[in-house]
Amino acid sequence: MFAAVAVPLLLSAYASAQYTATYLPSNAPATSEQDQAGTNQCGSGHSQDSLCQNVYINSVQDFCLWAPPYTDGTNSTIGETERIEVAWCMKDGYGTRLIPDGTIQGAHFVQTPDYVQVTGFGDFTKMNIPAGDQGGELDPHGADGNGNPIGGLVFGSSFGTLQQYHEWTNYMAVDQFCIRACKDSTNAPLLCNHIYDVMGCDWNMPGNYDLNVFENCQGVTGDPMGIYTVNGSASTFQQGDASTPAAHPAPSSSDCSSFSTISNGQTAAASLATTRTSSSTSSGSSARMTSSTSNTRNIAPATGSPSASNTAHSSAGRLVAPTSMDGLFGVVATLVVGILGGAVFVL
Ligand SMILES: *[C@@H]1O[C@H](CO)[C@@H](O)[C@H](O)[C@H]1NC(C)=O
Ligand SMILES: *[C@@H]1O[C@H](CO)[C@@H](O)[C@H](O)[C@H]1NC(C)=O
Repeated sequence: MFAAVAVPLLLSAYASAQYTATYLPSNAPATSEQDQAGTNQCGSGHSQDSLCQNVYINSVQDFCLWAPPYTDGTNSTIGETERIEVAWCMKDGYGTRLIPDGTIQGAHFVQTPDYVQVTGFGDFTKMNIPAGDQGGELDPHGADGNGNPIGGLVFGSSFGTLQQYHEWTNYMAVDQFCIRACKDSTNAPLLCNHIYDVMGCDWNMPGNYDLNVFENCQGVTGDPMGIYTVNGSASTFQQGDASTPAAHPAPSSSDCSSFSTISNGQTAAASLATTRTSSSTSSGSSARMTSSTSNTRNIAPATGSPSASNTAHSSAGRLVAPTSMDGLFGVVATLVVGILGGAVFVL
């Protein structure tokens, strides 16, 4: 009984501590956080030099990703530029850069009752991510309390009128992406949890990553990343624990409509990154990735890897074979966790 009372309080305190000011693109200040490299007043149209830091997630034809504002081919890994990423969008009109045609090689938009998400593969050398970069995680809660990028805002109108999503997470590697924005609620910090920053897309956002498919779907809300329920009790995996649990199964989706491609007419700028290297030979991965590489990085091309026709993809974010659940629960300290859906909280 104690836990049932105490934990929701703790959770809502956590949620409110994470909450930032609420804006719309029309009333956002020039900068929403201190030391912001770009702007939240983006105007309309588009520009490939834009420093706009407003991202939108509405559909497979209308989503944006965070990526570096510049590159010399090597100096802009996600780890090096996480504080200054700018918005790159499929759709014109937001005052951002456009995602060049041909960049996205497959994209799957899904709307669940709690969040919107886009997952897929791409050639992000066209968006200033250096070849070989295994990437990193972007979210509104950097170590100093500012976002990565600082001042980055995320908007969308999937749940009615245009709104800011205060909780979101985006993994970007040179070849793979996933972005999720959670509807404001006490569950949002868990469903858009950003603490698993070396785990990559397949683990954090299990879903459809099929190449050459571009689709809008409805879906059910997935289990919160890192929280596992066995025998009615929940445990929270902590990054760095001796064993890494398997990704949650991909939640089911339905009512999909698909498109042969997505485009906006923007051609890619000549890229200084002329060759793409596989991750096994890369050296430029971000600092936040390196500490636990052996624990989380690509071993076998497993579930979720691109099809054989696209072997140039590195396997950023893919996991080693799951270790046993017993191992997980043997090492995990029991923490305050929430089981969503049933709204049952245990200690
Ligand atoms: C990276 O390279 C680009 C292109 O040469 C340059 O504009 C930018 O200032 C460089 N940034 C850093 C931090 O070295
Ligand atoms: C779950 O319950 C079953 C049956 O009581 C038990 O055998 C099993 O060890 C439990 N698993 C965990 C992880 O506690």
